[in-house]
Amino acid sequence: MQLTAGVYFYASPGGLDFSGEICSNTIILRGQKLVVIDPGRLDRLPGLLEKMVDDGLNPDDIDSVILTHSHPDHLEAAPELAARFGARLCLSSLERKFLQESSEIFYAKYQYPGPEVKFEVCEPGVASFPGLSFNIISTPGHTPGGLSIFWPEKKLLVTGDLFFPGTIGAINLFGGNPGELYKSVARLRDVGGVEMVLCGHGPALVDRDMVIQNYRALLAEIATKKAAGVL
Ligand SMILES: [Fe+2]
Repeated sequence: MQLTAGVYFYASPGGLDFSGEICSNTIILRGQKLVVIDPGRLDRLPGLLEKMVDDGLNPDDIDSVILTHSHPDHLEAAPELAARFGARLCLSSLERKFLQESSEIFYAKYQYPGPEVKFEVCEPGVASFPGLSFNIISTPGHTPGGLSIFWPEKKLLVTGDLFFPGTIGAINLFGGNPGELYKSVARLRDVGGVEMVLCGHGPALVDRDMVIQNYRALLAEIATKKAAGVL
């Protein structure tokens, strides 16, 4: 569904229930072409493409795929978008390395990208795509090379699994780092003017009050976990 002009959000039906088959939310940014953030699981791709078409988006217009991180519930469908639509696949250099290091841990039940799949490096800073310009922010903690995306024109922040509505992301998976996650949350909280936050799982935060309330909840959770020696 379109949330605001140029911003499309496809929520995973599982929401924040991580007990079943997990798939990430997908976010699509529209300029002259389309940038897909976290296309999700391969078996969900046909449904995603149908929804895109229903919303007037042409998959042939996909220019690039940005992966907030390399977990398969976010990345598995990306190579198919490269093969079918010629999309460039982008993730951070740290995460590209982590994808290789962690394949046996995370991809046992998923399709691991073959050697023919090329991932371009997408580093922190200003990133330009056809008709689009936004900021890539380094936000490690859930994984070593996690990225978030801030689109100032839309006051939009995309966080991957760094945090969700009401809670921080998992820190106990291989490659997770509690201290880094805390610093990354603080880094995003300092990004000014955010009025919409789209996370890797769970519902959209669609106004300034929701965004502020969510940071309050996250900071309270972090403080509790720090006091308990978890962070
Ligand atoms: Fe993840």
